[in-house]
Amino acid sequence: MNIQPNDFAPVSRRTFLQAAGGASVGGGIASKLAFATVGKPAVLGGTPAHSAPWPAWPVSDHQEANGLVKVLQSGAWYRFRAGDAGTVAAFERQWAAEVGTPYCQATSSGTAALVCALAALDIGPGDEVLVPPYTFIATVNSVLAHHALPVFVDSDPATGLMDPKRIEERINPDTRAILPVHIAGAPCDMDRILTIGQKHGLHVVEDACQAHTAAWRGKRAGSLGDAGCFSFQNSKNNTSGEGGALTTSSRHVFGQARVFHNNGNGEDSDDGGRTSNGLNLRLTEFQGALLLAQLTRNETFARQREAQGAYLNQLLQEIPGVHPKETYPGTTRHGYHLFMFDFDPDQFAGMTKSRFLTALNAEGIPARGGYGALNKQSFVEQFLNSRGFQRVYSPKRLREYREENHCPANDGMVSSTCWLMQNILLGTRGDIEAIAEAVARIQKFAGEIVRAA
Ligand SMILES: Cc1ncc(COP(=O)(O)O)c(C=O)c1O
Repeated sequence: MNIQPNDFAPVSRRTFLQAAGGASVGGGIASKLAFATVGKPAVLGGTPAHSAPWPAWPVSDHQEANGLVKVLQSGAWYRFRAGDAGTVAAFERQWAAEVGTPYCQATSSGTAALVCALAALDIGPGDEVLVPPYTFIATVNSVLAHHALPVFVDSDPATGLMDPKRIEERINPDTRAILPVHIAGAPCDMDRILTIGQKHGLHVVEDACQAHTAAWRGKRAGSLGDAGCFSFQNSKNNTSGEGGALTTSSRHVFGQARVFHNNGNGEDSDDGGRTSNGLNLRLTEFQGALLLAQLTRNETFARQREAQGAYLNQLLQEIPGVHPKETYPGTTRHGYHLFMFDFDPDQFAGMTKSRFLTALNAEGIPARGGYGALNKQSFVEQFLNSRGFQRVYSPKRLREYREENHCPANDGMVSSTCWLMQNILLGTRGDIEAIAEAVARIQKFAGEIVRAA
């Protein structure tokens, strides 16, 4: 990975406009910034805005290789054989320090971290947990794994995050927890969520799977609620292929999660006294070795993503009908697992999202469509109709659930929200400008693109 600090110095809006000849990007005035020239879109036969390869992910070097070989040769591939001197224990100490919590429990995945968090808080059948509809399915699956009822709270379309204004209307006496998800690495409005949690006596579990390095009022995502859950799956900003971690400031939550992740056995071995139920959700020493190596680049990469994310934000805002997702005022650091933005079809000649993405992909920009509306997917009826749910939840509650399960703001949002993955932000300033150029071309020639479809 070739990082060039001068490549991501921030640019002011004024500098940008001057460079673009004082006109809007769509104006097509010649400029030293390539994207301001707004050439013909690739879907209409133009040359793609970007043709070089994007930064590869994951990144590794001799540190990952040496770490893996060392574990291999040690024969201690399992965390409790390696003990405190092992890679998993070392990673837990480092990740706790990174997030700013006294405790960290490594797990086999982010899903496993969420399952452990809910187990540690004794969430079970009959309990209700508030979740967003705009998230990876694992958030909801972790609730279902405990036969608890996931209740969807509508999204704030400006941020894409759980709308704090919509939380209280979903709370009832069976509600036990709020599970906000810091999608993309952008923190949810934690002031309001924690206040609502306190007011109603609810636990708050942060799904920080995408929010490595994100911060709310200077405190790291994953350190604010009863527990924070991280994923180190292949696409994540630090990765061991699969992997996860739970962070907490509560000794109790940590102890419960640790025992649960170890099949209910003691905290430090497989043969301790069994104190609870549990599962095997342990991380291996190989994964620990990978994560220790990944952490050596964590801060450098995070800074690069922040700088390039801010630059792209600035450039896209100049294009009519394009709106990068906003963050709440308490956000002091964006984790940038994703760069999310909306396009307004009205300013793109009524273009559909799939046509917009096809046009962007033709420009060499690997933008994606992101999540759909989880609350409307068929698995919801499947769990509502399951034998277990029919026994645990009253017909009245299930009827009300169906009646209330609407998230109109989220429905509107999913048709216009697009993503770029974090590795794109590890590119150069020129790469970032190519993205803006591609979007500006599509906007300028939107009518022709729609007619040509
Ligand atoms: C928001 C969110 N929650 C939960 C998960 C689950 O993590 P994992 O894939 O490590 O189980 C992911 C990761 O894919 C995620 O993005």
